[in-house]
Amino acid sequence: MAFLTWSRDFEMGIPEMDEQHKKWLDLLNAFYIHIGNDDFQERMVELIDGVLSYTKYHFSEEEALMASINYPAIGEQRSMHGDIVKRIEEFKTKAGEGKLIISMPLTAELKKWFKEHILIEDMKYAQYLKENR
Ligand SMILES: [Fe+2]
Ligand SMILES: [Fe+2]
Repeated sequence: MAFLTWSRDFEMGIPEMDEQHKKWLDLLNAFYIHIGNDDFQERMVELIDGVLSYTKYHFSEEEALMASINYPAIGEQRSMHGDIVKRIEEFKTKAGEGKLIISMPLTAELKKWFKEHILIEDMKYAQYLKENR
């Protein structure tokens, strides 16, 4: 499995957040577009950095939304978000030091995290939003 394709299962019914999740997936899938290119190793830091900054942006938007609706599990979301940001930063450091030879462990981990986080955790706040609108 290379690309993680967007499916309706990921849709939460909150347009801005759905759009951000889609965009995030595009950034991750960009790794597969560049893989095999001669300059892939050099570009990897740049690609990881793109994922990192968009991830931070998405989390801050998402946490602001959660705060605005007084979502009770915002603390758990914050700590999960913090953990994965740390992982991406570690990957970026490794890539910068030339220690990350291929990006597979990175993308595999992020794809798994993304899937599980949206399908389980983000869905919970979407549900909360629906019930408390
Ligand atoms: Fe989240
Ligand atoms: Fe999210």
